[in-house]
Amino acid sequence: MRQVTLIPGDGIGPEITEAVKAIFAAANVPVTWDEENAGQTTFEAMGELIPASLIASLKKNTVALKGPITTPVGKGFKSVNVQLRQMFDLYSNVRPAKTTKGVNTRFENVNSVLFRENTEGLYAGLEMFDERLQISDSVARVTRVGCEKIIRAAFVYADKHGCKKVTAVHKANILKSAGALFLGVFNEIAKEYPNIQADDKIIDNMCMQLVAKPEQFDVIVTTNLFGDILSDLCAGLVGGLGVVAGANIGDEMAIFEAVHGSAPDIAGKGIANPTALLRSAIMMLHHLDMKDEANRIEAALEATLANKEECTGDLGGKAGTMEFAQNIIAKL
Ligand code: NAI
Ligand code: MG
Repeated sequence: MRQVTLIPGDGIGPEITEAVKAIFAAANVPVTWDEENAGQTTFEAMGELIPASLIASLKKNTVALKGPITTPVGKGFKSVNVQLRQMFDLYSNVRPAKTTKGVNTRFENVNSVLFRENTEGLYAGLEMFDERLQISDSVARVTRVGCEKIIRAAFVYADKHGCKKVTAVHKANILKSAGALFLGVFNEIAKEYPNIQADDKIIDNMCMQLVAKPEQFDVIVTTNLFGDILSDLCAGLVGGLGVVAGANIGDEMAIFEAVHGSAPDIAGKGIANPTALLRSAIMMLHHLDMKDEANRIEAALEATLANKEECTGDLGGKAGTMEFAQNIIAKL
């Protein structure tokens, strides 16, 4: 048995978490859950967004599955997601986007994995505000070490999974310093992988190419801000945030998460789609080398998604969250 930390989160988080737990139990996955919450609910109960007990659990287990978290609006509240990424140096944000049979989209053969640098760039937190002059400076910190880690992660993944191409996305024509550093490191590391095609695109052209011909991309690697935007764009190509997985991976820890938010508009109604969290949980099983369990659950999920009737409302079906989970369980 492998113990992992489970963070149910806020809003629809607990509902989609229950669905994933039920599916894991039915599939006899050798994982036990060490449940510790974070976010708004925790803040209201304990006065802390990230309690010390959660940090201890993460340090002990080094692998976690996390539901969506509401960051309370207002000054002084740093996003829980950003804090966890920085606290544990989870430098790779990995976001697969693959066309699924039965999920309505404009495109047919999308199959890409985006590697977004997760700890620096414009989100490094280096922000200054001159109250008197009303001038804001946000510094995009890009380091050689940071570039090397994310770019290597992308090539290692491409190599391991037999991907043909890695595309670096940048703005080196304008960002003469940060962009050039990222692109330079990319070209250096690409030389170590002669069997993988190394390609680079300027961010604006990349956006156009992705919405025109997304099938041409395989592995994509980019800095934090561009990656944040592109990863949601890629999700839109394959059915939206309700169906895509995400992971935050560092050298010592990995947190797998639903990338959508806590959906307060539908929370508590039992109608949320658990697919995104389940797909993140499947990624987690691959990370734990539990390939058979991952493949079994994935096959049951794909078969369920192929039949709209058995899915939740956002996918055009009539099933509630647990009913959808039961439909998956029936196919295990
Ligand atoms: P959201 O993703 O929660 O909701 C956007 C729309 O998508 C809503 O209409 C919602 O009902 C729908 N939706 C989202 N997930 C769904 C699911 N699994 N099944 C069915 N429908 C789903 O984004 P919003 O409204 O911008 O943010 C709400 C809260 O979530 C905010 O407090 C925000 O900070 C937080 N958030 C947290 C994230 C995380 O923890 N990773 C990511 C994004 C937002
Ligand atoms: Mg985002």
